Amino acid sequence: MDRVMGNPQPEISRKCVWSLLAALLITLLVGLPQARAQAILEGERFHPVQGTQGMVATSHTLATEIALEVLENGGNAVDAAVTAGFALAVTQPRSGNIGGGGFMLYAPGDGGAPEAIDYRETAPAGATETMFQNADGEVVQQRSRFSHQAAGVPGTVAGLSLALERHGTISLEQALAPAIKLAREGFEVPRRFTEGLEQARERLERWPATKATFYNADGSAPQPGSVFRQPELADTLQRIADQGPKGFYEGETARLIVEEMQRHDGLITLEDLQTYQPAIREPVHGTYRGHDIYSMSPPSSGGTHIVQILNILEHYPIAELGHNSAATVHRMAEAMKLAYADRAKYLGDTDFVDVPVTGLTSKGYAAALQATIDPDRARPSSEISAGNPAPWESNETTHFSIVDRWGNAVSNTYTINFSYGSGITVAGAGFLLNNEMDDFSAKPGVPNAYGLIGGEANKIEPGKRMLSSMSPTIVRKDGRNYLVTGSPGGSRIITTTLQVLMNVIDHNMNIQSAVSAPRMHHQWLPDEIRMEQGFSPDTIELLEGLGHKVSISRAMGAIQSVLIGEDGTLYGGADPRRSTSAAMGY
Ligand code: DON
Repeated sequence: MDRVMGNPQPEISRKCVWSLLAALLITLLVGLPQARAQAILEGERFHPVQGTQGMVATSHTLATEIALEVLENGGNAVDAAVTAGFALAVTQPRSGNIGGGGFMLYAPGDGGAPEAIDYRETAPAGATETMFQNADGEVVQQRSRFSHQAAGVPGTVAGLSLALERHGTISLEQALAPAIKLAREGFEVPRRFTEGLEQARERLERWPATKATFYNADGSAPQPGSVFRQPELADTLQRIADQGPKGFYEGETARLIVEEMQRHDGLITLEDLQTYQPAIREPVHGTYRGHDIYSMSPPSSGGTHIVQILNILEHYPIAELGHNSAATVHRMAEAMKLAYADRAKYLGDTDFVDVPVTGLTSKGYAAALQATIDPDRARPSSEISAGNPAPWESNETTHFSIVDRWGNAVSNTYTINFSYGSGITVAGAGFLLNNEMDDFSAKPGVPNAYGLIGGEANKIEPGKRMLSSMSPTIVRKDGRNYLVTGSPGGSRIITTTLQVLMNVIDHNMNIQSAVSAPRMHHQWLPDEIRMEQGFSPDTIELLEGLGHKVSISRAMGAIQSVLIGEDGTLYGGADPRRSTSAAMGY
């Protein structure tokens, strides 16, 4: 295990200096030819949406339209993002939320320092390290995933409000108005909405408030084309519009949350809600072939490992090796294994544990790791069994990317963890609670729903944020915002985002091609490359020949991206993996 993880502590050595020089040389030799214009449209199979003044990519057409309207009316990217965040809580309740949390990355168009707003959920004060273990020390998944104890203290309302306060130009009331209207007057149900509720029926109808909120009186799911209204949610949102975040963390809504908890052995108290605080964090920063990569810092593992993997891959002429060729996929898989092994050991909430982010993201450490990769052989991940990985394939988080006419960029990923989170609706308040507590390590070495292993660094502690993989990312080129991206997908978020970065930077794809291209994933444990459909049998055979186990999986991630061309043209790429995804610009 240790051998695979290596030592990420920063170490100034001669070897490190040499690898830095080598990386610089490689960047100069291989990177520069890649620096040509991105938006190659003629002769391509996929075409991004184009605009000049503003661009929005979200996973729901209505949210995209509403956010674009904010931009057209003179609002900035943060105004549009906060408005979209609240709108998605209405139109896409399986992941859009006010009962969960997430991360927003903001990079001003004037080249000022990017900033991350961390509104991840926290463990309630009553949480304990072994709360999800039974008397025999076995993890009880039912409790960590589908009970009131699964819910962390929600951060979304505080996070979106803080973003608006710091960088917005419209009031919270204005940002909430479209969401309140959609909740009160209803919206036309897309097929995907109906399908989601049918798929999750068993899990959701157990809870009377969830059944009453999301299903018709006769128990059927709202049908495509019908109008779906959420009056209780409208009232809950109105209280936030009237009173600010206090309209959620105190007063009527807080009372309803706490009563819900008390009826079912839940842990969240009034004090947990009143004391919840979002945090301003410095994003993780790295470079890749002359581009500046900014992504989410702990308590997400996303940015750290995206930069770590890119640092390793920078040593290879990826463009020459070819997109999705066996040679490229092999190197990517080996680098991913190393990163996910480190994730399991080192990553957690930096308010509680020391995380060696500097070391993990250093070029020197990457050079040392890269030196251990055999180009001709897959290294077995470990002797440790991965347990029972990712049984919840229909999980859903949601990401949106927005750029305004001033070049300001917002990259936001938020979630209630699984599709529909815990499945529990706060009675009387009309919104679903997250089941984010499952992202903690319930017991060292026992995988969570995404097959991710953790230990000491990610153990449950009161007030602590559970480790995430969410990776809102912004790339700058020559000091200006260039690529805004991010994805849902649990453990696959990191690798999904990574591949869009590589598709643009290494393979020079336009943003829609980069988003649409088939993806692969390796997370150390289980020891297999997951691949979407679209890789050739020859490639798979070559990879198997190197010793990889390959499994063909369902589609991974739903990445929503915006790219800013050299002439300022905006290109939107919405992920076809979600039928409701939409990019729109003007
Ligand atoms: O924070 C995390 O990493 C997870 N709770 C995200 C869950 C997710 O992306 C689900 N779906 N696609």
